Amino acid sequence: MSAKKIAVAGTGYVGLVTGVCLAHHGHRVTCVDVDEAKIACLKAGKSPIYEPGLTELLQQGIEAGRLQFTTDGAAAYRDAEVIFIGVGTPEREDGSANLDYVFGVVREIAASAGRDCVVVVKSTVPIGTNDEVERYLAGHRANPVKLEVASNPEFLAQGTAVRDTLHASRIVIGTEAERPRRVLEEVYADFDAPKLFTGRRSAEMIKYASNDFLALKISYINEIANLCETVGADVDEVAAGMGYDRRIGRHFLRAGIGYGGSCFPKDTKALDSFAAIRGTRLKTVAATIEVNEGQKRRLLEKARAHYKSLAGVTVAVLGLAFKPGTDDLREAPSLLCVPRLLAEGAQVRAWDPVARQNFARRLAGMQCPGCGEITYCDSIEETLTGAELCLILTEWPEVCALDPQLFAKAMRAPIVLDGRNCFAPKAVRDSGAKLLYESIGRAPVDTREKA
Ligand code: UGA
Repeated sequence: MSAKKIAVAGTGYVGLVTGVCLAHHGHRVTCVDVDEAKIACLKAGKSPIYEPGLTELLQQGIEAGRLQFTTDGAAAYRDAEVIFIGVGTPEREDGSANLDYVFGVVREIAASAGRDCVVVVKSTVPIGTNDEVERYLAGHRANPVKLEVASNPEFLAQGTAVRDTLHASRIVIGTEAERPRRVLEEVYADFDAPKLFTGRRSAEMIKYASNDFLALKISYINEIANLCETVGADVDEVAAGMGYDRRIGRHFLRAGIGYGGSCFPKDTKALDSFAAIRGTRLKTVAATIEVNEGQKRRLLEKARAHYKSLAGVTVAVLGLAFKPGTDDLREAPSLLCVPRLLAEGAQVRAWDPVARQNFARRLAGMQCPGCGEITYCDSIEETLTGAELCLILTEWPEVCALDPQLFAKAMRAPIVLDGRNCFAPKAVRDSGAKLLYESIGRAPVDTREKA
């Protein structure tokens, strides 16, 4: 392998994990970010995000002298052979992707690149953006250097980011030109993953098409789950039966209260809005978004079937993060459910092992007069104590490992609404706990004493 001098713009999930993994494979990497506090933290060998395995590789890279961090983008881009762009492309109000950060980096590269270089766009960007980036660089470069652009979308998931990068399902390299293809082949020579060479626009499309297809699978199984409830079928059995067909596959068929996070909600809306600008409609993507919005409200609808009003009801909420293993709250169902409960006058007791502080910050701006109060608890038992209704919003392992008897012991006349299907209905029944347990797409279990 020939070690390359690489700069990576952005130290979020995509940029930081990419930089650290490239250094792990022997490249000399400088990660750039405008956030001074973040860079200081990284220089000290500490990761600002929680990802299994990341801190170890980060410290190894620094100790081996292959990994550096700086806020000085110009210096890092000046003599880099390859520059990865891994900055955010957040959602604009109209659903489209905001490319301001990407073009902020592109402008700096144009002003500072001092040698021929391959610019690799890893950020998720609308189709055609790589062409625009190349045009901009050709028109604005300060030095007479050749700046070629390749698309190399990222497929890592939060919580498994290092593993997903070192052993990626595939590495997609989108370029029509010979040199970027050869350079990226060398960059990824030691990565254990199939490499797929495509056109630039196809690579950009692969990213959206993949994420939106996964989101579609989730919305599809959620609609099937809702129907299962009305006909007495069990969605877990249905998903297992579907998954045996290798053309369907068993992954991403977990029914629940909808997908959240920084990617699926943003990327479905971005493709929907991109298609609309091109004068076409992606009906399946629009339906995916609509189903997900409804699904996030599913537990509240179930709660309303039991209470005329939630005013004064003590509600335990287990899990706030959009999925386990992260403190990320972006598009989490908790951000919709908890403010609604409070607005209706419920007293909320909430638990999450890592997302509690982030949640409290987000909620601070949402308090209203007449709202119920929220108490954050340190343990699940404390959260459940005295509550009569429990909503499970995240399938944290601590929740899935609970003995259902705890609900019966700690709560008053317990009603448990599980938005993540953490327990098998049979296990709830067999536990002998006296409660009403409802989940998504499966028959309820009601073992309460009848009056
Ligand atoms: C997702 C994709 O899985 C990655 O491949 C992609 O690279 C990434 O977006 C991205 O574009 O950066 P991530 O958002 O980290 O990764 O999380 P996932 O594990 O995919 O979960 C997303 C949401 O779907 C979560 O809210 C999860 O609870 C939900 N989900 C997932 C379901 O409701 N059911 C399932 O069967 C699977």
